[in-house]
Amino acid sequence: MSRTPLIAGNWKMNGLLSDGTTLAKAVALGAKGAACDILICPPATLLAPIKEALAGTTVHLGAQDCHWQASGAHTGDISAQMLVDIGCSHVILGHSERRADHGETDNQVALKAAAAHNAGLMALICVGETEAQRDAGDTMSVISAQLDGSVPDSATSENTVIAYEPVWAIGTGRTPTAQEANQVHAHIRAHLRGRLGTEGIADLRILYGGSMKPGNAVDLLAQPDIDGGLIGGAALKAEDFLGIVAAAVS
Ligand code: PGA
Repeated sequence: MSRTPLIAGNWKMNGLLSDGTTLAKAVALGAKGAACDILICPPATLLAPIKEALAGTTVHLGAQDCHWQASGAHTGDISAQMLVDIGCSHVILGHSERRADHGETDNQVALKAAAAHNAGLMALICVGETEAQRDAGDTMSVISAQLDGSVPDSATSENTVIAYEPVWAIGTGRTPTAQEANQVHAHIRAHLRGRLGTEGIADLRILYGGSMKPGNAVDLLAQPDIDGGLIGGAALKAEDFLGIVAAAVS
């Protein structure tokens, strides 16, 4: 197995020019020499200044969404090409907050991911069950359906990362046990191998997201099928984010 862990910060709709660039610089400085890959996904308004702040560091820059068209009459949207143009290497797609706030469907997420692949971006595709789905025992079937609908056939280990984010764990301080999360990750890996074949996605990274903190990161990241984290709240403090980075390499 040659899966380098990826620790990704999803800043969501947080950060202004001054504090955002300060945070990005602090992360880059503290993460120097880290043995994992590190990604920061600030709001779109901060992509350009943070690209500049990260110059000369190994920290990657990503966006939180893109449109599936390359250009055109789509007021307020940003294309994958535009993200590449400004220096992004990654884009988060299908986050549960976008699915909830903007009614994004699996099919739209798949179109966006295919557009990201065409533009040369790494697509970080999010899936996850709600609490009601979990309570009904439907976690694995919900995840399978989301993978079938949201992951395009163009997905490989080179252009795609999956993030398993149980909706009930996002921003709540609650998490599945590390073993429970790992079971879902193993299911995701097996399901995608069944569909896409073992070769193209042999080194596919599957991140866990949802209330990951320095205190629970060690256990979660020690699981064989958990290859990193997608971090929300704890990505907004350099110390917390770097604590998780440290757990990924220990
Ligand atoms: P959280 O968010 O770490 O604040 O739970 C994770 C995410 O939504 O990506």
